[in-house]
Amino acid sequence: MRNPTATKLLFEMSCAGRGTQVFPESDVPEVSGLAAIGAEFLATEPLPLPEIAEPDVVRHFVNLSTLNMSVDSHFYPLGSCTMKYNPKRHERWARLPQAAGSHPYQSEAQIQGLLSVLYELQGMLAEIAGLPGVSLHPAAGAQGEFTALLTAAAYFRDRGEQRTRVLFPASAHGTNPASAALAGFECVQLAGGRDGFVDLDELRAQLDERTAVFMVTNPNTLGLFERDIRQVSELLHSVGGLVYIDGANMNAILGRTRPGDFGGDMMHYNVHKTFTGPHGAGGPGAGPIAVRDFLAPYLPAPVVTWDAARNWYSLSVPEKSIGKVRTFFGNVGILLRGYFYIRTLGGRGLREASENAVLNANYLLSQVKDFLDVPHGDRCMHEFVASARRQKEQTGVTTMDIAKRLLDYGFHAPTVYFPLVVEEALMMEPTETESLQTLNAFAAALRAICSEPADLVRGAPHTTAVCRPDEVNAARKPVLCWSAPEC
Ligand SMILES: Cc1ncc(COP(=O)(O)O)c(C=O)c1O
Repeated sequence: MRNPTATKLLFEMSCAGRGTQVFPESDVPEVSGLAAIGAEFLATEPLPLPEIAEPDVVRHFVNLSTLNMSVDSHFYPLGSCTMKYNPKRHERWARLPQAAGSHPYQSEAQIQGLLSVLYELQGMLAEIAGLPGVSLHPAAGAQGEFTALLTAAAYFRDRGEQRTRVLFPASAHGTNPASAALAGFECVQLAGGRDGFVDLDELRAQLDERTAVFMVTNPNTLGLFERDIRQVSELLHSVGGLVYIDGANMNAILGRTRPGDFGGDMMHYNVHKTFTGPHGAGGPGAGPIAVRDFLAPYLPAPVVTWDAARNWYSLSVPEKSIGKVRTFFGNVGILLRGYFYIRTLGGRGLREASENAVLNANYLLSQVKDFLDVPHGDRCMHEFVASARRQKEQTGVTTMDIAKRLLDYGFHAPTVYFPLVVEEALMMEPTETESLQTLNAFAAALRAICSEPADLVRGAPHTTAVCRPDEVNAARKPVLCWSAPEC
């Protein structure tokens, strides 16, 4: 049975006189008189705070923390958003006092060790991308997109070119057009081929001297490697445009192929998806970018440089830098986690991680395709998109119902209703760390749900503290300030 201290508010558990705070005697002179503080700042009534014993407070918060699903407590096959398991040793290392105890206002001389690590990380990210210029600055994938587009805009401006349009396929992540619009470009969406790939004829028809950038996720958000990516890049380059590779799905291709090798000019990494780092609540994250050599002079400042003669690391401003897109030199705590992850696995380990991510996704696909439609083929990269369209037509059970019912089985739902090009989409990404047993259990749960009575599934979840919150209202009208309940 669920513990009542988890679901009751502290106010509901309050009992007059039960407060446990014991303040020590004041050891500073008391300042008396309203003049010292100002009458307007003095409370006239005691604050209506809950009065609760310490064990009850502890139990309340500990139990509350167990109501949420996390990658440390449950299988979390969130497609595209990649909920990778974060190995604890990287968390521990990132908290070492040499790293966590440093401060961005310290002098270069005091943080040579840290700068050497960041310099090395820049090199590793350049190597993995096949693109030599790296900025560790951006705070998330989306900010990486925005930063790279500002970099491209500065490059075109410098060349006196008026390029105003950014193109992307319909399967693009919403942050792509958002970043392009924020960077001042006109957004042009391509429909894309029916088979889920970029349609070369459609792309060709849109290209002209106004084209600045084509943003493409590869592997794309349908879990497919864009088979014509080389031709896509050649087409863009033939009109003087640039190719932006949204690297959110790098987890599928690490050590196998590189954006720079298949024609990409710029890309971002999502450190939490491809390497390791906490994910959620919009950050704080890290979304380093990698660019071709001719774009490197425009990167944000600072970048870490090394003077071999002096063996000295510096924070330097690239020659034609676009300036800063955030404070200081990046979200160092997250970058370090990524650094430790790469160092732990090494080149071969990264490649194996990708191979296992792809293997796991293909195995899961093979286990669900007889009861869920998988519109884009029998093979995938690290994720695939299934559809509950048939279930909806036949029984009225929607993707959302299936997602909610999975909670009753102890699984977090896959990504739902994305990408928009697939009706009733369920986008599944198991990641490389999941075992055969977990994948089998998840597939069995999905299979069971698809044959359960429709009413049972439509009423789910039945076992969680909250059933179906009004998600739209919660997102649009969040209540962010505490106010005392009216008793
Ligand atoms: C394909 C794709 N691009 C970009 C992003 C944005 O990344 P971030 O959440 O780090 O801003 C995501 C996030 O899920 C994504 O899946």
